[in-house]
Amino acid sequence: MTKTAASARHAALAAEIRAHDHAYYVLARPTISDAAYDRLYHELLDLEQRFPELATPESPSRRVGGEPLSEFQSVTHGVPMLSLDNTYSRAEVREFVGRVQRLLPGVDLEWTVEPKIDGVAVNLRYEGGRLTVGATRGDGATGDDVTANLRTIRSVPLVLARPHPAARRPASPRQSDLFEPAPAGPAPEIPEVLEVRGEVFMSRAGFARLNADREAAGEEVFANARNATAGSLKQLDPRVVAGRPLDMVLYGVGVIRGRAVPSSQSALLGWLQALGFRTPERWWVCRSLEELDAAIAELDSVRRGLAYETDGAVIKLNSWALRERCGSTAKAPRWAIAFKYAPEQACTRLKAITVQVGRTGALTPVAELEPVLLAGSTISRATLHNEEDLRRKDIRVGDWVLVEKAGEVIPAVVGVAPGRRTGTERLFRFPQACPECGSRVSKDSLGGDEGVAWRCLNPDCPARIRGRIEHWCCRGAMDIEGGGEVLVAQLVKTGLVTDVADLYRLRVAEVAALDRMGDKSARNFLEGIEASKQRDLWRLVFGLGILHVGAGVAKSLGRHFPTLDELAHATQERLTQVEDVGAVIAASVFQWFSDPQHQRLIERLRAAGLNFTSALHRPAATAGPLAGQTFVLTGTLPGMSRETATARIEALGGRVAGSVSPKTDYVLAGDDPGSKLEKARRLGIRVIDEAEFRRLAGESGA
Ligand code: IVH
Repeated sequence: MTKTAASARHAALAAEIRAHDHAYYVLARPTISDAAYDRLYHELLDLEQRFPELATPESPSRRVGGEPLSEFQSVTHGVPMLSLDNTYSRAEVREFVGRVQRLLPGVDLEWTVEPKIDGVAVNLRYEGGRLTVGATRGDGATGDDVTANLRTIRSVPLVLARPHPAARRPASPRQSDLFEPAPAGPAPEIPEVLEVRGEVFMSRAGFARLNADREAAGEEVFANARNATAGSLKQLDPRVVAGRPLDMVLYGVGVIRGRAVPSSQSALLGWLQALGFRTPERWWVCRSLEELDAAIAELDSVRRGLAYETDGAVIKLNSWALRERCGSTAKAPRWAIAFKYAPEQACTRLKAITVQVGRTGALTPVAELEPVLLAGSTISRATLHNEEDLRRKDIRVGDWVLVEKAGEVIPAVVGVAPGRRTGTERLFRFPQACPECGSRVSKDSLGGDEGVAWRCLNPDCPARIRGRIEHWCCRGAMDIEGGGEVLVAQLVKTGLVTDVADLYRLRVAEVAALDRMGDKSARNFLEGIEASKQRDLWRLVFGLGILHVGAGVAKSLGRHFPTLDELAHATQERLTQVEDVGAVIAASVFQWFSDPQHQRLIERLRAAGLNFTSALHRPAATAGPLAGQTFVLTGTLPGMSRETATARIEALGGRVAGSVSPKTDYVLAGDDPGSKLEKARRLGIRVIDEAEFRRLAGESGA
C-alpha cells in the first residue's frame, strides 16, 4: 500500500470510528456490532503500525499515551470557574428570582433548569478544533492539567469534526419552541479557541462494577462515585484512568475566540450537542415561578433514572445578555442558583461498632444499627469506612446517627444527629489486635489511591482464610457451586480446610457430617471441586487472591504466559511488559510467588491435578528470535523500507509499535530520526541501527 493510499484509508477509518464512538458513548445508541467495530479498530492499528506517522494525537487509537507523570502542571483559567450559591429551600429559590428581577426591572425572565451532576468540574480547551488542555476547576482561578486523563474519556471528542447525522436529535423534549436548533446542513463553525465546561462523573453502573472489581482484587473500595471520579482524575498514570469508567456531560463555556457565541443557555446546549459533546438528557426552560417549581419537581422524579448521581437542580438565567447585566460576586454568579434535594437519609441509634476482617486482612468498622427504613429497605448495618473517618465524624457508640444511601452504594453513616447526645455515649477504641485471631494489627497503605487501613498481618487468621477460600470458590474465579459463606465457615472452623489446596483432599463423609449438609449436597460440592481442576489458568490466578490482581489483570497474565510456571518464575521486569500490568502490580505478583508458603501451595495444587496452562495464551508472540520484543521505527533506513523492516520484525515474532513507551525494547533509527529517538534516550531504551537490526534478525555476514 502506498503512503497516500494508507493515509486516505486511515482518515476514512478514523472518521468512521469517531462516528461510532459518538453514537455509542454520547448518544447511547450503538450503530455497529462490537465485532465489526473491532475490525475497524484493528485495521486502523495495523495501518498505524505500518505507517507510524499516521498515529497523530487525534487518532482514535491514541486515547492513552505516554508515561505516568510525576506531577500535574498548573493551568490558569482564562475565565474563572465560578461556583454556585446553594439552597435547600424553595422559598430561597423564590427570593433568588425576586433578586434577579430587581436587577432587571420590567424584563420577562426566562430560566433553564438542569440536573446538578455530582461529579468533578472540568474545563476542556480546543484549539483549531483539537483538544489541547483539560483542567480541573481547582480553586476556580487555577486548576490541574489532567489532559492525559481526560483524553481517556470516550465521550470527550479529541477533535471537533462535522457531527454524525445521528447527532441531530432534539435536545430536550420540554423546550422545543425555545430551542435554537443547530444549523442544518454544514456543521457548526468551530471557533479557533473553544473552552467548554462540564462535569466528569462515573455512572452508577460503572461505579458499582469498579468497586466489585476492586473488592475482588483485595483493593479498598471507593466510598461513592464522586470520590472515585476525583481519585481517578488525580491519578498520575493515564493507563490506570483508562480502566476507570469515567464520562462527561457539558453545560457551559469558558474562553471562546473566533466565532459568535450562542446567546442563551438553551442555544448553548444545542450547539454543544451538535459539536459532538454529551449534554444533560433532560433540561427545562421556565418562564414563571410555577414552571420553575414544576421543573424542579419533575427533575426530582426522574433523576434516579439518570446514569449519574444528581444532588440538585441548577437554575440559570437563559439569556447571556441579561446574565451580563446581573454580574457575579467573586465566588458565584448572581444569575444562577443550585437547589439541592434533601439526600435520602434516616436517623437511628448506633447500638455497637463491630470490626470486620477481609481476605487481605483489612479491618473495616461496621455500624450495628437499630433497624430503620431507608430508601425502601430496612437497614441494620452500615459501613463506617475506616478509623480516620470515624474520628473525623466523632461517632460514638449509643449516638443517634444519620445513615445515607446514594445509588448503588452500601449505606453509610454520614454523621451524628446534632443535639441528641445524652452524655452516655462511649468513644470507640479501634482494636489494636485482630478481633478474629488476636494478632497484632498494623497500619499500611495498599499502594492504591485512597489512603491507609489497619490490617491483620497474620496470614493464618481464620477470617482471612475464610475470605481466601470463598474468593477461590466464587463465580468469577474457580466457580465452585456451594462454596459460599456458610459452608466455608464450617470447613475452616472444623479444621478440614486451611487453604485452597485442602479443598481437593476433602472426602464425602467429612463434608456430609457438617451442619445442614447431607450426602447429596456433599457430593454436589465435591463434584464442583473436581470440575474446577479443569478451569483455565486466569481463573486460578484470579482465585489466588493476589493483591491488585482482579479478573482483568488475571486474563492479561493468562494471555501473556502459557503456563503458571512461566508466570511464577517471571521477573518483575518481564511482568511489567504485560498489558495492564504496571510496577505496583508487577511487584505484588512477584512478591506473592516469591513467598515459600505460596510456592508450597502451588506444588500441592499441581499434585492435586489442577490445570496450569492458559487457553488465552497467544502462541504467536513466543515464536521466533524476536518473540515478545517491541520495536519502534524512526527515520529513514539506508537499506530497507519501513514496510520491509516491519514485515521482518513481525515474521520473527516481534511487534512494531507507533510510539515509544517504557514497554518498547528497541528503537530502530535511520537517518533524520524524529522525536522518538529523543524519547528513547530519555527512557533509556536501546537504540539500534540497520546493521545491528540485521544481526538481531539473524542475517549472516551482517
Ligand atoms: S454551572 C458559573 N451547571 O456544581 C456556573 N454547574 O456547586 C457554574 N455542577 O462547580 C457551574 N452540574 O461542578 C453548573 N448543570 C450544572 C452543574 C454544575 C453540576 C457543579 C459544578 C460547579 C458546582 C457548583
